[in-house]
Amino acid sequence: MPEYKGVITTENRLWARSWDCISIKVVGTDGASQWKALSYLLSFPESDFEIEVDRSIGKLVLIELKKSSGILLPQDSWFPAKVELKSPEGKTFYFPIHRWITDDEVHQFREATACLVVDDTYPLAIQSRTEELKLRTEQYCWNIYAVGLPQCMKIDNVHTLPDEVRFSFTKEVEFGFTALQGLIELKLDGLADCKEKWTSIDAIGKVFRHKQTALSEYVQQNWMKDSLFGYQFLNGVNPMVIRCCSVLPENFPVTDQMVFLHGGKSLAEEMQNGNIFLCDYKLLDGLKANEVNGKQQYLMAPLVLLHKTPEDQLLPIAIQLKQEPSKDNPIFCPADSEYDWLLAKMFVRSADFQVHQLNSHFLRTHLLAEVFSVSILRNLPMVHPLYKLLVPNTRYTLQINFLARELLISDSGFFNKFTASGGEAMQMILQRANSSITYTSLCVRDDIKERGLESVPHFYYREDAFQIWDIINRFVQGVLGYYYKDDSDVQRDTELQTWVLEIFEHGFLSRPESGMPQRLNTVAELVKFVTMVIFTCSAQHGAVNNGQFDYGSWMPNTPTTLQRPPPTTKGTADERSLLETLPDVNATVHGMAVMYLLSKPSSDFVPFGHYPEEYFSEIVPRQQMHLFKGELGLLNSKIEARNLGLKIPYTFLDPALLENSVAI
Ligand code: FE2
Repeated sequence: MPEYKGVITTENRLWARSWDCISIKVVGTDGASQWKALSYLLSFPESDFEIEVDRSIGKLVLIELKKSSGILLPQDSWFPAKVELKSPEGKTFYFPIHRWITDDEVHQFREATACLVVDDTYPLAIQSRTEELKLRTEQYCWNIYAVGLPQCMKIDNVHTLPDEVRFSFTKEVEFGFTALQGLIELKLDGLADCKEKWTSIDAIGKVFRHKQTALSEYVQQNWMKDSLFGYQFLNGVNPMVIRCCSVLPENFPVTDQMVFLHGGKSLAEEMQNGNIFLCDYKLLDGLKANEVNGKQQYLMAPLVLLHKTPEDQLLPIAIQLKQEPSKDNPIFCPADSEYDWLLAKMFVRSADFQVHQLNSHFLRTHLLAEVFSVSILRNLPMVHPLYKLLVPNTRYTLQINFLARELLISDSGFFNKFTASGGEAMQMILQRANSSITYTSLCVRDDIKERGLESVPHFYYREDAFQIWDIINRFVQGVLGYYYKDDSDVQRDTELQTWVLEIFEHGFLSRPESGMPQRLNTVAELVKFVTMVIFTCSAQHGAVNNGQFDYGSWMPNTPTTLQRPPPTTKGTADERSLLETLPDVNATVHGMAVMYLLSKPSSDFVPFGHYPEEYFSEIVPRQQMHLFKGELGLLNSKIEARNLGLKIPYTFLDPALLENSVAI
């Protein structure tokens, strides 16, 4: 009788091996095998088996796997990686799995060759595809977390997340996401309940000693300097606010008499030369600030004007802390008293913290990555090339976002307890930000052009992001170009079109003015869209996530809240009023702990462009993955070499330090 020789591989991870009895059935175009019981104890990690058939069953389409526990024994989880089968004719078929099997149901896994829905003609394959998506749309449902925000996945608690998208045991154990864990590691737990004010900047320095990085120490030493203040708008954790300014906003009446421009030119001349830049935090205008420790906090909506000097430094030249110009809303300048100017910059840094965390980080990377992920899991079957390409970019995102909603932005979470934008302001900021997201702003080359930042010197975020975007773009073109031969393949792919439409409807709330595609008509449109998805989940998240401890742990550089209103006249601020404005001790140390936890890579971190789980079997996509990894490796070397010559190395977009997905 014809015989298939098989190898079943269990994933090499904690608790992956099962003691249950595993059975397998092979299904081909002309028939199927009987169920074959393998063993109560598969040899680890690979186990050989043979399976006989009465006659040829044709081309293999799928396998079925079933796991059952012994009598009276509880179910034991199993994490198979793949099955390989060699046919009697000597042809090898490969079946990727890469997921937990925890129940005793029958699970089907398609042969690895990627297949678009229009090319899937065999009835059993079509049925398997339909059933897989039916199950997934029941498992992964959209949920409205708050009106006006991108929708998220509907889950009651972490334990109801499907196993395939849960943290590994390693990550689960390491990542408590509790402030206490961070406070203990930073040896700050003794200050967690202290509601006192700081008595001096030195006193903050005395507790800021553990787990420091070279950059956080640099920030501690230089936080008062205008050069570091300006530098952070380009290469800090939030390079998303700055834009070139060719005309002053009407509500920001800066005059030549107020500012000193290096090089002796007028403001109008320098605006014409493209050397004036604006950061406008109008997103925060008119919001009710939070209370912290029972005290009213203050949240400004500043406007900041910056000048690129002839020496190519970006320096702040004017700050107005509220949107409406008035006598009690002075425009502060570097020539003002030391404490006036320092306080004005601190209000800007605090405003930037809120906008960075809620808009640039949480909304534009975490929440969007969740939208992309849920839509992938609902609409693309495992055999779809886009599923194979994108599923590594969804790893851990659903769980990390659930935890963020439960522990960071919930009523008792860090944001509501210790930041100026906690409470009702937070929802307003997120809603306002979401209502203005555009497709242009998610595509970094278009975004930088739109903000007029193409020629700003020493803009390492732009330099590195452009290179990564282009590398992803070539990779996506190489993989998808193999499956979508012409535009009609894109137009006829109903699964792809539903994936895109659900992103538009559930993520971008059907706003046509967002410019987000509602359907894709060409291969070029598809490649750009998928490039944006991968870039957002990997590089963009790294750019706004990885430096949180570096720039944010020294509180005076990034106050999570401020508890005195800003001065309404010049010449009144002094060291005492500055210290009274800074957050209390408990707010400070909780902020440091959160920054620490959110910047800490886990030990099962998968570097960007690494694909330990093999979903593709064809040569072309596998070659493309190899090339992609190689190109990212070269970029890593280039960035490391460049950074050797920089006073502040820019590492946030170093591919070696990026992950495939939003996982932290
Ligand atoms: Fe993050």
